[in-house]
Amino acid sequence: MTEVGTAPVVKRWWHGMVAYQIYPRSFKDSNGDGVGDLRGIIEKLGYIASLGVDIIWISPIFVSPFIDNGYDVADYRKISPVYGTLEDFDELLVKAKELGLYVILDLVINHCSDQHPLFRKALSDPQAPEREFFYFVKGHNDAPPDNLRSYFGGSVWERVPGEDNLYYLHTYAKEQPDFNWYNPRLRERIYEMINWWLDRGVAGFRIDAIMNIVKDTSFKGLPPDEQGDGSCAAAALIPHLAYTAPMLLDELKARTFGPRDAFTVAEAFGLGDDVIGRFIGDDGCFSTVFDFTARQSIDQDRPGYYAYPQGTIKLYRDGNFSMQKKSNALGFVAPLLENHDEPRAVSFYLKPHQRNAQGAKALATVFMFLRGIPFIYQGQELGMTSPKFESIDEFDDLQTHDEYHKALRHGLTPQEALALMNVHSRDLSRTPMIWDDGPAGGFTTGTPWIRPHQDIAILNARAQECDPASVLNHYRALIRLRRDPQIAPCVTYGRFEEVAEAGDEVICYRRFSESVTIEVAANFSDEEIKFRLTPDSQVLLSSGDGANLNDGILTLAPLASCVVTIK
Ligand code: GLC
Repeated sequence: MTEVGTAPVVKRWWHGMVAYQIYPRSFKDSNGDGVGDLRGIIEKLGYIASLGVDIIWISPIFVSPFIDNGYDVADYRKISPVYGTLEDFDELLVKAKELGLYVILDLVINHCSDQHPLFRKALSDPQAPEREFFYFVKGHNDAPPDNLRSYFGGSVWERVPGEDNLYYLHTYAKEQPDFNWYNPRLRERIYEMINWWLDRGVAGFRIDAIMNIVKDTSFKGLPPDEQGDGSCAAAALIPHLAYTAPMLLDELKARTFGPRDAFTVAEAFGLGDDVIGRFIGDDGCFSTVFDFTARQSIDQDRPGYYAYPQGTIKLYRDGNFSMQKKSNALGFVAPLLENHDEPRAVSFYLKPHQRNAQGAKALATVFMFLRGIPFIYQGQELGMTSPKFESIDEFDDLQTHDEYHKALRHGLTPQEALALMNVHSRDLSRTPMIWDDGPAGGFTTGTPWIRPHQDIAILNARAQECDPASVLNHYRALIRLRRDPQIAPCVTYGRFEEVAEAGDEVICYRRFSESVTIEVAANFSDEEIKFRLTPDSQVLLSSGDGANLNDGILTLAPLASCVVTIK
């Protein structure tokens, strides 16, 4: 035990680590079919290791009809032929290990695909025990059991063909039926599958949509929300039920991750202050949970993209800072700037004239020293911006198509709705990784499954390798600095404190351990700013033109950032 920050912490192997998310469909294609694959990832393991990260999370690679890009799993123990084979995966694990990289997989266990044998059996045979593994519920007077709305639009209930007044539940697409976690035999099957992967050598999991496993099985629904059609978003149920989740999650951990000391990061949102402590920390259900506080201030309780506010740096800062302060006493969260469900942070949180390398580097600086396990999403380290889609037909994501039509129904013109998708769509972060300035950015020799980014010339890894001032090399320097033995314990365990005096367009905070204090700051305003530090303070790293420290006065020009030790 070591006494740090404000909470006593039992040391774990993953403390202090940095993670990198691979969206396999868009990372690297080795066989020219236009879709990324495992051999492509193997080819790029050296690149990933060169960033200095420790953990790789690979989004789902299992057999799937790809209605939701693999988040609809039809066989949890087989690799999709689109991505390769189990042998490829085993080779990936061995090679990753040689490079000191831990691999975690995506565990999609709130739901499966409607093509999964368990669901096919459940659907086709009313007497089959598999029916109990899902929710098959009678409707009322020819209407679904309740008024909840799926994350991808429409009712969460789908009528069972050939049966009278019977529905099955799907919190996401109708091709993604929800598992009934209250069924012990189903849980056993899930635990077996998880242990099978752990035995194969994976270091842990990112756990998908896990808050949705808790249900109000009276299926009463909720009062209608602002969408105006009598329905209510299924997500609105989570805060009411979150406190019941640990009953299921403690068992999950005890039977799988716990005894094997696996690393787990949960996609858990809607957690009130009273329950976060149960999810993270020494006895938490998970190692850590993503911090979606900033994101939730955009989308929570809003009926659709058309009602979302534009992100701002203040919104990003305030969301992160509020969770950072809580996490001091509770455990470790996983900060993020973007992922495969969100637009690129540089485009979303920064003003149009800041969406460049300087802006990306300033964001990177203040992101990388937050308390917790930072997750970098592929392409973030290149400062990738959101691309521009020219028509709705170029989008692949099912949620984007639903949101587009919702926006039209709300009265937006097609041009306005398209512009909105170019701000919020999940596909904005799913365009191919940009390796070089060749066709399709070196991602594939074939035709990419989704249109490539238009700014391949600047945003490519090969060009940035050779430029010491590139976003890529800035990320590398930041990760190296985190490991500097002088400050590493402070970066990992030190208490977080906000430095508030600098205004709405500045991100500034301090981290404290017993012997070290660091200050991290970035200026997103259009004016120079000054901070008073102690005379012996020292700049450890900076970005942008104009981060100067003289006689204890730190001056930051617009879009400059720095990390300073305070003596
Ligand atoms: C999570 C995934 C998202 C997916 C959804 C359903 O939110 O991150 O991509 O669509 O779960 O599995």
